Amino acid sequence: MIGATSGAVEDFSTEMLAVGLYKGEAPEGLGDAASAVISSGDFTGKEAETALLYGQEDLGAPRLLLVGLGERERFDPERLRRVAAAAARRAQTLKLREAAFYLPVPQGSGVRGAAQAAAEGARLGLYRFDRHKSGAENRELEAFWLVSDEPELGQAAEGIQVGQKAAWGAVLARDLANEPSNTATPEYLAEKAREIAERHGMEAQVLDRAGIEEKGLTGLATVGRSATNEPRFIVLEHRRCGDAPPVVLAGKAVTFDSGGISIKPSSGMQDMKFDMSGGAAVLGAMEAVGALDLALNVVALVPATENLPGGDAYKPGDVLTMHSGKTVEIVTTDAEGRLILADALSYARRYEPAAVVDCATLTGACHVALGDHASGLMGNDEDLIAEIQTAGETSGERAWPLPLFDEYTEQISGDVADIKNSGGRFGGALTAGAFLKEFTDYPWAHLDIAGTAYGKKGNAYTPKGATGAPARLLVEFLLGRAR
Ligand code: BES
Ligand code: MN
Ligand code: ZN
Repeated sequence: MIGATSGAVEDFSTEMLAVGLYKGEAPEGLGDAASAVISSGDFTGKEAETALLYGQEDLGAPRLLLVGLGERERFDPERLRRVAAAAARRAQTLKLREAAFYLPVPQGSGVRGAAQAAAEGARLGLYRFDRHKSGAENRELEAFWLVSDEPELGQAAEGIQVGQKAAWGAVLARDLANEPSNTATPEYLAEKAREIAERHGMEAQVLDRAGIEEKGLTGLATVGRSATNEPRFIVLEHRRCGDAPPVVLAGKAVTFDSGGISIKPSSGMQDMKFDMSGGAAVLGAMEAVGALDLALNVVALVPATENLPGGDAYKPGDVLTMHSGKTVEIVTTDAEGRLILADALSYARRYEPAAVVDCATLTGACHVALGDHASGLMGNDEDLIAEIQTAGETSGERAWPLPLFDEYTEQISGDVADIKNSGGRFGGALTAGAFLKEFTDYPWAHLDIAGTAYGKKGNAYTPKGATGAPARLLVEFLLGRAR
């Protein structure tokens, strides 16, 4: 639980009080030991640096944690997420029951926004994926208090509520994406979607293999044909705004991508359990949309399947007639994500959507282009692209625009069919985006999250494995639309 409270440093009673200090600034009213740690030079206030002091006189708390905030002018909500995570994690490592953190408010943010960011950082920083470890210690910090001034308590509490709900959505996305493919099958994702619907009064519809074929979702049916764990097409509808045109979120959910007949090299292949991260983020965003009860209509479309070789598998050279009627020539069975997403995108037309945003671990090329630090952002509508980029900045899940020039579409023009499913090595993220564009006729944005959905290293508020991105970006985008 993350809560808001107020109180003076001297008489605040908690197991550990964490106080942020800007680089090069002296502490006030924290006692002699705090001053000494700083004058000794052992603690400089650089970002997320910590010093733990015990038995400080004149303090209500037995432990005082100094946390570096870095330079005052550079402090922002993203740094606050990292710092709040450092404080919460320290309390967790010390096996405390509860702890408190004096909420520092970045210049240019209000208390509300600061509280949201701190709540997100703390919640996400405490995340562990240990359900498959025997004897894992599940003891979590019971309460993490954000301390602010009395008159601002209401704003802090509001920010915490939003931050926690957004973060729980991201946690759900992380849990789904981290789950190995022998558990996290398409039907498992469908079951999770039904649970979300039940919790929040949404409509859930799940198509099985027969339903997928019947609806003419050829891309999904074809990629999933050789899989024993049957494909699913998952639809979730949150309706809280009469018959206003909905925002549609679509997420690629390949629960394991072996490459199919165009099989991938075996080294590193285990990471392809994360190839459903787009679908996981969409479901995570829907969890938050439901918890926040956003006054919007939102539809989630999650095509879910494995991509495996087999006697019945699709093959290079095959030609598919997609849900939209376009024909696609298969160059490689490893470019499967765009096939299942293309069907979801043309299926989205029936909603006459206000906007459609898809996210997918679509191309290794996007990871090469932007590294681990931003998702690739493409689309057919400059305003929507700008809106998504801003949501990325605000949420700390950055997205960076990439072009969809006509030449990329020419690069995928088909020899035998209308288009082909790969444009070759060069500009791989863009030709994939150009492929998807062929199936849209509404404002649309595409996020290639191959580099951002999971990581080998982790960071201040993300352990290695799934990051949950871009679930919070999507929530921020929808919050903006609901305002
Ligand atoms: N799921 C992969 C993309 C991917 C690769 C994500 C590495 C994360 C890390 C996707 O289905 C794929 O295989 N894409 C191919 C496309 C190519 C065959 C045109 C790729 O990126 O190599
Ligand atoms: Mn693939
Ligand atoms: Zn894939």
